[in-house]
Amino acid sequence: MRKTVIAGNWKMHMNCADTEKFLLKFLPLIKDIGIERNIVIAPPFTAISTFSANTNFKNLNIASQNIHWEESGAFTAEISPRMLIEHQVKYAIVGHSEPRKYFSESDEQINKRAISAQLNGLTPIVCVGESLEQRERGEAERVITRQVEQGLEGTNPANLIVAYEPIWAIGTGKTCEAVEANKICKLIRNLVGYEDITIQYGGSVKPDNIDEIMSMDDIDGVLVGGASLDPVSFARIANYR
Ligand code: PGA
Repeated sequence: MRKTVIAGNWKMHMNCADTEKFLLKFLPLIKDIGIERNIVIAPPFTAISTFSANTNFKNLNIASQNIHWEESGAFTAEISPRMLIEHQVKYAIVGHSEPRKYFSESDEQINKRAISAQLNGLTPIVCVGESLEQRERGEAERVITRQVEQGLEGTNPANLIVAYEPIWAIGTGKTCEAVEANKICKLIRNLVGYEDITIQYGGSVKPDNIDEIMSMDDIDGVLVGGASLDPVSFARIANYR
């Protein structure tokens, strides 16, 4: 059975006080959602403990925005699986287009992070997606195929989420057409070769497009940036129809 996973990525937003305020409003709005729908938030590292102290983890889980492959060591600015497990972190976002772009993250590093997450009992959310130039040159499928083949090598598809996030749709307000997003998600499912893998769409997901996106056959969840910072918007997304 495929899992439904609605995830929010807070990026470099929200301190501990903001997190407490958010949860106070958000938790009552998701209280009727059944456990078959997994709601996940990736707060900044500094707010993870505020988060874990304020939730009961019924169907709201914590993701980290990164994970290293070593348990400890001289890796300034990195975070180890051991540090995350202590705070009940269950998912780890890897391969997001922002670290790919700003910090030149390679498919090889992304692969090591994804394997590290799995070895430590976390579920990696591996992001893939093409830039506008690549899409305009007709290279979208080729780029995604490379990212999937290299980024997921040696991973266990039964404990894996792939998020299709076209870079041109992230933070721009331009959503990928639901039918086109579905086509790419199906391509990813075929490349992975595991029918039950959870595939998310990400890129300007909002309360007014969530119902259409979630009605698509090959989209099992979403990864939400901007709209996850507002408790009412994110609750509407989590309560999609
Ligand atoms: P957005 O971000 O929803 O603000 O477009 C999505 C993401 O970066 O995961």
